[in-house]
Formats: sequence, C-alpha cells, structure tokens
Amino acid sequence: MTDKRSRIVVVGNTKGGSGKSTIAMHLIVACLRRGKSVASVDADVGQRTLTKYVNNRRAYGQKESRALPVSDHIALEKSTQDTVRAAHAEEQERFVALLTGLAQANDIVVIDTPGADTFLNRLCHTFADTLITPLNDSFVDLDVLAQVEGEALKITAPSHYSEMVWEQKIRRASAKRGAVDWVVLRNRLSNLDARNKRAMGAALDELSRRFGFRTLAGLGERVIYRELFPLGLTLLDLPRAGEPFQMAHVAARQEIRGFLEALRLF
Ligand SMILES: Nc1ncnc2c1ncn2[C@@H]1O[C@H](COP(=O)(O)OP(=O)(O)O)[C@@H](O)[C@H]1O
Ligand SMILES: [Mg+2]
Repeated sequence: MTDKRSRIVVVGNTKGGSGKSTIAMHLIVACLRRGKSVASVDADVGQRTLTKYVNNRRAYGQKESRALPVSDHIALEKSTQDTVRAAHAEEQERFVALLTGLAQANDIVVIDTPGADTFLNRLCHTFADTLITPLNDSFVDLDVLAQVEGEALKITAPSHYSEMVWEQKIRRASAKRGAVDWVVLRNRLSNLDARNKRAMGAALDELSRRFGFRTLAGLGERVIYRELFPLGLTLLDLPRAGEPFQMAHVAARQEIRGFLEALRLF
C-alpha cells in the first residue's frame, strides 16, 4: 500500500459476543467527535452488526434532525467465485484496493471482524497497526488466548487465536509493515467479583509477557450498551435532548476516553 497516512485499527477476537462491534462503534464515534476523519469497515459478512449499528445511527439522526457524526462506512462482501482459491484471490484484491483508498482519505480506519477464523478475517489482521482484542472478564473467554489449567492457572499452550495473531505478525514483519500494537481490552468489568478480576489480571499479565500484548481496562458491565444499538447511539452521544444527565454515563464516558488515550492512536 502506498501513501498510507492513516492508522488501521482492527477489532478482533475469534469468539463471538466479546464486545467487538460495541467497542468498534464507540471507538469510531470517539474519533469522529475529536474531529478525525474515520472510515469503518465491516468484515463480519455474516452478522453485519457494525453495518446495522451505523445504519441505525443514520436513521436516528434523520428522524430526530440531529447532526450525528457518521463514519465513511463499507460492508465487505464475500466472494461468490466457485473455487476457494479464486474466492480468496478476489477477496484479497478487493480488500487491498478498498483499504488503500480508505487509508489515503482518512485519519483512521476501524475494521470490525467476525467471531470466526475466515480468510478475510486473517487478511484484516495482517493490516492492523493496532489490534484491539476485547475480552470478557471471565476464564471462559480467556481460553481464546491460551489454555489455562487448574487452580494455579498454569498456562499450558497458546490457543488458536493467539497463534493466528502470531502468524499475521510474522507476515507483517516479512512485508516490512512495522510492528503491530496488540491491545487486549478487558470488557464488561464488574465491581462485584473482585476475586475473579484479580485472578484474570494475574493471568493476563503472564500472557501479555509471553505473547507481547498490552492489557487495558475497557468498558464496565452496563445494560445501556444493549439499549443504544437500535438507536445507533453511543455513550458519547448522551444525554439525548430532554433527557436527564446521569452520573453513571459520565463515568462510562470517562472509561471510553481513558482507553482512547491509552491506545495512543494520534
Ligand atoms: N460493557 C458491556 N456491558 C454490557 N453489555 C455489553 C458490553 N459490551 C458488549 N455488550 C453486549 O454484549 C453483546 C455482544 O456484544 P457485541 O459487541 O455484539 O460482540 P461481538 O461483536 O464480539 O460479537 C451485545 O448484546 C452487547 O450489547
Ligand atoms: Mg460483532
């Protein structure tokens, strides 16, 4: 890719329901509200959550005559070529052309990926300058990074996703595209299970040393994230006209700003 000027951020984790699309949308709106030009790409050709989120936002903005900043959004299509080889070749060619254009025209490109290991998903990971892996604060979800056993939480082997990231890192290095900043973002943090939180923290510290990622505190567990999707809104767009100001939302916005700073994108 030539004349690239933007930062490419991939939100990835081959587990569904870890918060990828929610975090992608909050990141997009946070960057837009800072005056950055943002392109968004939905590589989850099956679910299209981010595309629906963006469409909901456009519809809500029109209905309420409210000027909501929106990204330049593209939903990727799966190739319909007959053979796997031809399909992959087409997907790669289209993706590289698209990304080159978006990267030249925007400050930041945010790519949301599927919770599955697909050719397109791997391709997205190779182009990440920053890779954000949201992880629910649970040992069930930690399994996407490594196999952890017993009460002593012994790390026995890397998991499929860590191996996939590793492979894409090597490809990226051989293409001389510089190092990827891999960030594991803890999602759905709760104040209730301090013991689990500490144990997760210790396991993540150990894994971060082995696999070379940084760990950041992400979003707290809040029902509001589910309610905002149909309106296409994020916490950064609240309060809505006529709605009361809520302290909980201020705290949540602070979390988002905190992780945005720590991402060091600009
Ligand atoms: N911090 C959070 N607090 C509460 N619910 C959340 C949080 N983050 C995500 N969710 C909810 O979890 C579900 C999965 O999130 P989503 O962003 O679609 O994950 P993914 O894209 O990884 O599949 C959605 O219902 C979403 O609203
Ligand atoms: Mg998703």
